[in-house]
Formats: sequence, C-alpha cells, structure tokens
Amino acid sequence: MIKFLDGNQIYLRAIELSDVNENYLKWLNEPEVTTGLVSGTFPTTLASLQNYVEQKTTDKNTVMLAICDKESNKHIGNIKLDNFDWVSGTCELGVLIGEKDFWGKGIGSEVCKLTIKYAFEQLNIRKILLAVYAHNIGAIKVYEKLGFVNEGTLRQHIWSNGAYIDKHYMGLFASEFK
Ligand SMILES: CC(C)(COP(=O)(O)OP(=O)(O)OC[C@H]1O[C@@H](n2cnc3c(N)ncnc32)[C@H](O)[C@@H]1OP(=O)(O)O)[C@@H](O)C(=O)NCCC(=O)NCCS
Repeated sequence: MIKFLDGNQIYLRAIELSDVNENYLKWLNEPEVTTGLVSGTFPTTLASLQNYVEQKTTDKNTVMLAICDKESNKHIGNIKLDNFDWVSGTCELGVLIGEKDFWGKGIGSEVCKLTIKYAFEQLNIRKILLAVYAHNIGAIKVYEKLGFVNEGTLRQHIWSNGAYIDKHYMGLFASEFK
C-alpha cells in the first residue's frame, strides 16, 4: 500500500479495482449514506461498481482516492477531483465516507482539506466547484468551514424522499481556502 496524501486520522491512496467489494457496495445501497448523492436512486451492483471504478481510474480527467483509517487501514470512503478544465484552472470535488461509524469525527473536513490543498498546490488549480443538496446539512457545514460559498441554487431540483430539494453549487478560490 502506497500512501498518496497523509493526514492525522486518515490517509489517501489510489483506489484499486480490488477495493470494489461487498463493503463498498453496502455504502451505495444504504439510504442514510446516499441521501446526498446521485447514487442510491437505482440499485448498485458489484458489476456496475467495478465498471465505475475502472472508468474513473483510467480517465485522465479524474483523480479518485480511497480514504483509509490510519489505525485499522480500513477503506472507509472515497474522494475525487474530476472535470478538470486546465485552461480555466477549475475542477470539481466529490466526497463519500461510506462507513457511518466514521462520521462526525472531523474526517470529512480532514479529507477535503488534504485533497483541496493537493489540487491548489500540486495541480495548480485556481477554483474548485461542488454540488450539494440543501438537506445535506453535514456536508454543507464541512464545505462552509473550508471556505466554500454558495454560487447558485437550482430550486427544488432534486426529488428525494418525497420532496423536491434545492441543489446548491458552491465554489472555492485558493485565496478563500481555510
Ligand atoms: C458529508 C460527510 C462527508 C461529512 O463527513 P464527517 O466526517 O461526518 O464531517 P466532519 O466530522 O468533518 O463534520 C464537520 C462539521 O459538520 C458537522 N456535521 C457533520 N454531519 C452533520 C449532520 N448530519 N448534521 C449536522 N452537523 C453535521 C459536524 O458536527 C462538524 O461541525 P463542527 O466542526 O462544528 O464540530 C459524510 O457524512 C459523508 O460522506 N456522507 C455521505 C456522502 C455525502 O453526503 N457526501 C457529500 C455529497 S455533497
């Protein structure tokens, strides 16, 4: 195992096809985990997940990393940067901590911070964009703490759990990063 980015509670390494297993599959079939994600509306299978990871790991326009707990080496989630625009210096961020036992310990903040620092410093990215559903209070808190600001809202855009939810686009310039 080769660490790519090193944090306090977690480290990040390149995701591998061998990370696609029942555990990872479980995350994407759990409503509590997927309520803020595009995944979950339709069932995910091992085959479709394998396909997805294979696609991401071979796509030059995506950096996808496995989030691993330092103490146990357990794979607890993923984080990715994608849709790079090398002319404008922008990319998009997406994070998933699939193991609910690891929520609320500051890992979401830590993992985003490490990845954002990498994007700004190593990849010379100027601005990072992300999309978040309005009912994803935890995620919005993480992003605001890091300096992201709302740049626009698609009103009642997402059908989720019997209601239409706003979708926010949040952006972060390197100069705003906390
Ligand atoms: C969203 C997610 C990344 C947050 O990760 P996390 O490790 O729980 O976040 P942290 O522990 O760093 O929390 C940061 C802050 O948000 C708060 N917070 C986290 N989840 C919360 C929730 N559900 N409700 C209210 N506050 C919440 C924490 O209390 C903390 O506040 P503090 O710094 O003032 O103490 C994680 O829950 C997750 O991966 N969820 C499933 C996938 C997902 O929704 N991804 C985001 C898609 S946009």
